[in-house]
Amino acid sequence: MNQKSNVALIVAGGKGSRMGVDMPKQYMQLSGKAILERTYQAFADNENIQFIQIVISKEHQSLYNDLLVKLADKAKLLPVCFGGDTRQESVSLGLEALTKAGPARVLIHDSVRPFVSNELINKVIFALKDSKCAVPALKISDSVKEIEGDKIKRSLLRENMVTVQTPQGFDFEFIYKLHQDYKGENLSDDTALAELMNEKVVIIEGEKENYKITTIDDLEKARSSMSETRTGSGFDVHQFEEGEFITLCGIKIPFNKKLKGHSDADCAWHALTDAILGAIGEGDIGEHFPDSDAKWKNADSGIFLKHASELLKSKGGRIANIDITVICEKPKLKEFKNEMRINTAKLLGIEIERVNIKATTTEKLGFLGREEGLAVQAIVSVKI
Ligand code: CTP
Ligand code: MG
Repeated sequence: MNQKSNVALIVAGGKGSRMGVDMPKQYMQLSGKAILERTYQAFADNENIQFIQIVISKEHQSLYNDLLVKLADKAKLLPVCFGGDTRQESVSLGLEALTKAGPARVLIHDSVRPFVSNELINKVIFALKDSKCAVPALKISDSVKEIEGDKIKRSLLRENMVTVQTPQGFDFEFIYKLHQDYKGENLSDDTALAELMNEKVVIIEGEKENYKITTIDDLEKARSSMSETRTGSGFDVHQFEEGEFITLCGIKIPFNKKLKGHSDADCAWHALTDAILGAIGEGDIGEHFPDSDAKWKNADSGIFLKHASELLKSKGGRIANIDITVICEKPKLKEFKNEMRINTAKLLGIEIERVNIKATTTEKLGFLGREEGLAVQAIVSVKI
């Protein structure tokens, strides 16, 4: 590093208690990538940032290591360091880790603001040419009141108010020294320290999109703004043999034949499992549940479908709609289609309206026309 270098310090040592879930929010998935990975990438892509220091909690080491494996571009990444009990402590420990390298400027950023733009990063860096501190801020459009318990104490003059964001930029030596001098204050942002010193802070216009993911509502908002639609298709055929019923979508349908197969031969749920796996780039059902494995003999195909659905959820995705087409001459499915639809929606935990079941024939042509077996085609759209 040299005296011209700009470093990003990304603090990711928090527990995410306001999110109210087990997983710390910075490691949660946002459109197929962890939030922290997206935040890291925003700085890695900026040409004026030379190095990136990430601060994590000691308790999250294995989550961080998993993320590290997935990072394609580690060129700017410095060895990780551990944070403390408060955000201020984590920043302070991050700055400490950077002292050896001694960068000229540091941009301190919350790991849970993944939508920071390249332009905003540049604006902060630019402002540091003539100043020791710069902060992005947003004007407030709602009226602002000071409260005490459930009582309003007074109205505040909105024109004089802003909310502040990160990245907050600093002359490195200046902010490092302030953090040393004011250890244990538990301030929620870093310019608060500069204010204590009466140091001039350059105010830059922040960005609405650069919000901090704090609650589950913020995460939902982030997910829906990022989500893209993906499609997967599945196709499955099973041969008939002597029997008394076939199983489709977990429903037993009386017939004078059954479907031959290793598991319960639920052709519809096999095709649907493949369609979901296809939409998320997870191969096919045979890779996940090999029919060479005795464990899956006579297995309930609901297990396969549930597995694909859980994989989708673990990637932050959800099903938009499912369209299943069963192709056979017999049995006639008219009176079972609704039950098949309800059972599929129930297993996946989605609205019935998102599932459609169709039945058709091949006009007596081919192996399906000769009633040698049954085929199912499934198409699924997912939001991820
Ligand atoms: N942070 C940190 N070390 C802490 C506390 C917070 O590095 N001891 C980081 C968080 O990981 C986050 C940023 O500071 O990137 C902003 O904090 P916040 O949104 O409050 O995150 P959490 O503290 O994790 O959430 P909560 O306050 O809901 O527990
Ligand atoms: Mg916090």
